[in-house]
Parts: sequence; C-alpha cells; structure tokens
Amino acid sequence: MVLKTLDVDQQAQPAELKGDPYHIAPLVRGLISYYKAERVLDPTAGSGATAKVCDEQVVPCDTCDLNDPLAPMDLFDIDAEGHYDLVVLHPDVWRSRPEADHPHDFGATMSWDAYVDLNRDAVLHLARMLRPGGRIAVVAPLARKKGRVHDLARDLVCLVGEPSEPILVHPHPFCRSQGNMYGHRYIPIAHDNVVVWKKEELIAPDE
Ligand SMILES: C[S@@+](CC[C@H](N)C(=O)[O-])C[C@H]1O[C@@H](n2cnc3c(N)ncnc32)[C@H](O)[C@@H]1O
Repeated sequence: MVLKTLDVDQQAQPAELKGDPYHIAPLVRGLISYYKAERVLDPTAGSGATAKVCDEQVVPCDTCDLNDPLAPMDLFDIDAEGHYDLVVLHPDVWRSRPEADHPHDFGATMSWDAYVDLNRDAVLHLARMLRPGGRIAVVAPLARKKGRVHDLARDLVCLVGEPSEPILVHPHPFCRSQGNMYGHRYIPIAHDNVVVWKKEELIAPDE
C-alpha cells in the first residue's frame, strides 16, 4: 500500500471541532476540490460535516444516517445508481456503540471479520451509486482492542483490491478522551486511513 500523509488544517482549533467531532471537514473540502466533485453522497452523515462543507462549496449533497432521530435510513436502502461523482463513507469505529442493534449498524457489537465484510458490502453497494469515473472515499478508522491494532483500510484492500490512488493518512490534531482534550496542532496523535477507489476498480463496467 502506498501511503501519503494529508496536510492537517493548521488553523483548526478545538472550539471549531465541536460541530465536527471527527475533524472530517478539511478532508471533505480537499476531496471535493481534488476530484472536482459536482454531486456528493454521504451515507453515514453523523453530525453533518460533509453537508456543511458542500453547502459552503455550493455542491449538491445527499446524506442519510441509520441513527438519524428524525429520518433514520440504512445506506443499503440507497437506490440512486449512477448519480454521484463522490461518495464519502465514514463508518463507526468497530464495536464503538454497544447499544446499537441493527445488523447493518457499523457501531454494533460483531466480530472483526463481520465488521470488515459489512464495510466491503457497503463499499460495493455504494460504488453502484457512482457515475462512471466517480470515486468512493472510505475514512477507515483504526481500532485497538486488547493491545491489538485492527486496520480496516488494510483488510478492505485485501478484500476488494488495491486502489490506484495512494492511501491518505488523515491525522486528528486533537483527540478527546474522558472529557479531556489531548494533542498539539503539530503533533497529531490519532489518525484514520482514507482509501479512495474509482468506480471501475470495484465494479466491472458490464455488471
Ligand atoms: C463515524 S460516524 C460519521 C461521522 C460523520 N462523518 C460526521 O461528520 O459526524 C458514523 C455514522 O454512521 C452511522 N451508521 C452506522 N451504520 C449505518 C448504516 N448501515 N447506514 C447508514 N448510517 C449508518 C452512525 O449512526 C454514525 O452516525
């Protein structure tokens, strides 16, 4: 795997991250501009950072979330083939929400293999929603359990294939734990790996 570290938004301050707890806005801004995206889908909207960036960039964006209190929607029910040129998939950290009970909920308690398979199925389903040449970016969290690091990006690449783009390392300049904020803007202390596939790398044109 070729890895490339993403520039951290040096201007970001902890106060600005309140509405974007995963600090995903600078990443989404970069993806939209790099791929010149004209229509974006975020099927795991969470706090809505992607939609806010799209509003600011005047780029049409559709979102959904299985745990949206007003209109919950499972990404596997999205049926808009060939509609988007950028999909941003940001699944929960493995086993991060023990209260989740939907079988498709990324945060629910399941084995690591089942979690990776669920992510693979999501990537392949969402790739169908892309226009030819469109990209899907997966913000793949690392999980640490019992001293072992589980790397979703690595295991997804093993299942669906190596992307032609370098894998981005997305550092989080600040990290919150038990109510405390740790880290320093020049010393990122946590990161996700971001894998970007082109539609044709995942789905054969005649499928
Ligand atoms: C890591 S959070 C996304 C954070 C988001 N990028 C933000 O800006 O806040 C993952 C989200 O995926 C949602 N989710 C989990 N499984 C889902 C599914 N099958 N379909 C749609 N959303 C799902 C969760 O409810 C959660 O809000």
